[in-house]
Amino acid sequence: MFAMLRVTVTTASRNYEAVIEHGLLSRAGEILHDLFSGTPPVFVVTVPPVRRHWGRVLLQSLNGAGFAPKVVEMRDGERFKRLSSVETLAEDLLKLGADRKAVVIAFGGGVVGDVAGMLASVYMRGVKLVQVPTTVQAQLDAAIGGKTGVNLKSGKNLLGTFYQPALVLIDPATLSTLPDREFRAGMYEALKCGVIGNPELFARLERCSIKSLRKDRDLLTWAISESVKLKARIVSADEKEGGLRRVLNFGHTLGHALETATSYRHFLHGEAVAWGMIAAAKIADEVRFSNNGTFDRIRDASLSWGSLPKVNVTTSKAMTLIRSDKKTESGVVNFVLPKEIGKVEVVKDVPEQAVAAALAQIRRLSRE
Ligand SMILES: NC(=O)c1ccc[n+]([C@@H]2O[C@H](COP(=O)([O-])OP(=O)(O)OC[C@H]3O[C@@H](n4cnc5c(N)ncnc54)[C@H](O)[C@@H]3O)[C@@H](O)[C@H]2O)c1
Ligand SMILES: [Zn+2]
Repeated sequence: MFAMLRVTVTTASRNYEAVIEHGLLSRAGEILHDLFSGTPPVFVVTVPPVRRHWGRVLLQSLNGAGFAPKVVEMRDGERFKRLSSVETLAEDLLKLGADRKAVVIAFGGGVVGDVAGMLASVYMRGVKLVQVPTTVQAQLDAAIGGKTGVNLKSGKNLLGTFYQPALVLIDPATLSTLPDREFRAGMYEALKCGVIGNPELFARLERCSIKSLRKDRDLLTWAISESVKLKARIVSADEKEGGLRRVLNFGHTLGHALETATSYRHFLHGEAVAWGMIAAAKIADEVRFSNNGTFDRIRDASLSWGSLPKVNVTTSKAMTLIRSDKKTESGVVNFVLPKEIGKVEVVKDVPEQAVAAALAQIRRLSRE
């Protein structure tokens, strides 16, 4: 059995722990009681599907530890990751009597984490925040690192804050109710963590079918823990995205271009990242940056979990989007490229011809 793991995240504003354990949700109450040495007023921000599947477990645990939790719901989906949701939730908190001592518990996927995180950062100029992520994407990425935010009509995550939680509670058991497609998409981010800095994680994931991974509680908990450790390590060294934090964007430059080109309707984020990782590995191969076999392993691992949505984006469209990416420095296209499994570097001035070859490659692979 896999024991409880505590990972410390160290940042300038605060240090906090991410606690990971299968079944942890039913112990949330006691852990929060210890952390706050008492029972401050807690407000659980969530969405209907998460409340339906897991609300009772969390609320029972909080009640059992002497809290009197109140629940506020936002509507489900990326569409509602808007400032208006933050405002509506704030009105709800006020009606329920939340004051400066309130603790906001963000209970859901990355959308809830980002919205409730932003809410906590501005409600009465800031109240305590606890992240309880319930998707793969949120457990190994969104809940760690303190980025919050909402979308504008003109683009994603354009309004936001840096606001570190007091605690992150990660229960991989909650992933059992995720739709298969959401589960798989999130696991590509774990594969990404393997490429960035954990060859053993990559190796264990590449040998495992997505079906058996879903069923293997120990392997799943381990894979999430390793990914959380990696993100925690990088964020701790680089809270606000200087050089180091950029390696987390492996697969994301092209991934974002694919998502934007299809108006976020064709790919789940993780699926676009999977194509982005294959493309980045191809670029690294084209410019002879990576060691032999690296591209093959990244391609095979990504595609072994089943087919991904087709890539129809043209090279010129993708190139335009890559050039306008907010992480692109004054026209120079930077890519995070793999040297080998477990080691990536930011490479400046990648020739456009290599990018074009990679795009042609993923279009072709998506048709096989
Ligand atoms: N802050 C960050 O650093 C960061 C990092 C990565 C992603 N993000 C953001 O995260 C968002 C995507 O997050 P996501 O992929 O979790 O999407 P999401 O929050 O929309 O969740 C996906 C779906 O799964 C449902 N769901 C959640 N938990 C469930 C469970 N346990 N069982 C059944 N259904 C469940 C949700 O209700 C939703 O319908 C994006 O907005 C992205 O920008 C933020
Ligand atoms: Zn991502």
